[in-house]
Amino acid sequence: MKINPATEQKINDIIEKMSLEEKVLQMFQMDKSAHKEAYSELSKLNIGSYLSIMGEEVDYLREKAKKTKNAIPPIFGIDAIHGHSLKNGATIFPSQLAMACSFNEELIEEMGAATAKEVNADGLDWVFSPVLCIARDTRWGRVDETFGEDPYLIGKLGAAIIRGYEKDGLVASCAKHYIGYGEATGGRDSYDTEVTLRKVRETFLPPFKEAVDAGTSTVMTAYGTLDGTPMTAHKELLTDVLRGELGFEGFVVTDYLNFKLISTKHRVAANPAEAARLGITAGNDMSMNAVAFIGAAIDEVKNGNIPEAAIDEAVRRILRVKANLGLFEEKERMPKSVIACKEHRELNHKLTRESLVLLKNNGVLPLKNAPAKIAVIGPNADNIANQYGDWTFTSHRPAEEFAQIKNDYYTVLRGVREIFPSSEVEYALGCPVCGEDGADIEKAVRIAESADIVILALGDELSQNGEAKDRADLELSGKQNELLRAVKATGTPVVTVMVTGKPLCIGEVLESSDAVVQMFGGGDLGGLCTAELIAGKFNPSGKLPISYPRATGALPCYYNGYSSWHWGKYCDVEKGALLSFGYGLSYTEYEYSDIAVSKTQVHMGESVKISANVTNKGAMAGDETVQLYVTDHYSSVMTPRINLRGFKKIHLEPGETKRVSFTVTPADLALVNRREETVVEPGKFTLYISPCAPDFTYEDGEYARVIEVVE
Ligand code: NOJ
Repeated sequence: MKINPATEQKINDIIEKMSLEEKVLQMFQMDKSAHKEAYSELSKLNIGSYLSIMGEEVDYLREKAKKTKNAIPPIFGIDAIHGHSLKNGATIFPSQLAMACSFNEELIEEMGAATAKEVNADGLDWVFSPVLCIARDTRWGRVDETFGEDPYLIGKLGAAIIRGYEKDGLVASCAKHYIGYGEATGGRDSYDTEVTLRKVRETFLPPFKEAVDAGTSTVMTAYGTLDGTPMTAHKELLTDVLRGELGFEGFVVTDYLNFKLISTKHRVAANPAEAARLGITAGNDMSMNAVAFIGAAIDEVKNGNIPEAAIDEAVRRILRVKANLGLFEEKERMPKSVIACKEHRELNHKLTRESLVLLKNNGVLPLKNAPAKIAVIGPNADNIANQYGDWTFTSHRPAEEFAQIKNDYYTVLRGVREIFPSSEVEYALGCPVCGEDGADIEKAVRIAESADIVILALGDELSQNGEAKDRADLELSGKQNELLRAVKATGTPVVTVMVTGKPLCIGEVLESSDAVVQMFGGGDLGGLCTAELIAGKFNPSGKLPISYPRATGALPCYYNGYSSWHWGKYCDVEKGALLSFGYGLSYTEYEYSDIAVSKTQVHMGESVKISANVTNKGAMAGDETVQLYVTDHYSSVMTPRINLRGFKKIHLEPGETKRVSFTVTPADLALVNRREETVVEPGKFTLYISPCAPDFTYEDGEYARVIEVVE
């Protein structure tokens, strides 16, 4: 977000007229459901923002605000995480994790723009998206909300979605959760993140830098603490780094009740007053729903413990965002007809196709002829809530809404019925995702025995994904393994579809299935696209933005670890990830050849070009994500064995070759040294052009070239 000089004077005039109380109310965001009594009182006043309110009540509150002294329009925020997904009937796109499999910045930007239109048409102004957390300990419950495990990919996709959200000035975006939240120790949601500031700069800050550069209007502070300091009270990171170094000019909102947590859970403040002082002076501008914050902040200013100038500055930042959105002029909104319109459906279709990842194929796919009989089996074959995943109306709205879903959605079962109209399709649940009920396994076996192919949809459920839903065990839950074994024993070929919010331990699934498709939160069209993939109506191109563990105890298993640590072997589990970042199959074969660098000796500050030929050796046209990685051979601090530093998605017709090149800049070779400075150190680096995260090497190879940086 950039400051617009034209509106600055207007904003200052408003602030001048405001009392201290009115200013602090601007810094407050209210969730009605949590404070029913306070709500009826506070909503008569001119409060800054509301969250999670939809429908007619939005218009009512807007009108009410107009009758207050300063008549400042409230800004309405909503968790539109993968589409305007809390609204029954709006387009629900694949989850962030699923979108990340596309490695497609363009489509993700379009998705952001489409969501902005639907949210704006619904009378709302602000999406609490994107999540820029890094998912490395995948026991954490919120993995499905992330773009995966790699800071570079997260940064690029985060920037793309922000550009989409903000480009037409329809909504403000919110880069969250600042910072290190996904790295909470033990994968425990909102627990302490035990990392150093050097590590923050090296790993967790880059996606936020991308978000700020892309123009995000707001940033949300994480629930958690970083090395013992609540993020809400972390002045160095919230002010010196975020504003001072990254140049962020929007406003900072806390996460839900963070001002309260500082004194009640983190206990670094003795009472709400001290919490208000710590949080405001650290750099927070808006308090999400901590009612005690209002009185506490007013008192602290009156007692001289918080300078009123700090309050003025927070209000100024909030009003700027409101002005940029045109809220003061009541800019015309998008027509309601954009919600779930045909254009968004088509975009969703494209994105969902690219969000599926083919993990195994022994040749059974694509199905060449429509089978006479298909058995669709499994707890996630016809369960839209599990397919949608978290942050939709099925997970966050009253059950009555769920009973009457307005979305035209496809589960795997519906998709198969539609894509194979001449096949007889039989369905059995088999077993639920969790619990000991295996009564339906018998039916599953019966229909599998007489079928030509089994499509088996396994996975996880809503109770296993989301806030405070961390898992200690990532094996398939309930009787799902039993179901898999029973179906496999029939001898009928099995295509397993994993409908999950995160990578589970799928060693046995991979071994027992003839083909495996991964659908992370599939949105409205996950089931349709899965059936299309199985039928070969398109060539799968999704790649993994996250690695699969061999066992829960073998976490973390992210690809960019250090060579001397995790990449050693546990004595009871095979080395490395089961499936690593960047991996994904297609129905054709791509050959990489003729890798070359523009020079092998590079002077400090110079860039170098690396290129390779990529050829489609198969019979089907396809899209390949070509990936650029870097290894630093020797440096003053340890660096990851390999780091993603670029990716390009290209289309290749059968037999076609394209030369793909990347410019490797000094920033791509940089590290953060012990003094927390970002520097390039002279020495050797390996550059790779590769179809997935490669095995690291210190020598030239099929996918690799060594260069040397000299003074
Ligand atoms: C809590 C979550 O951590 C955050 O992601 C979300 O945006 C807010 N609550 C608002 O619902």
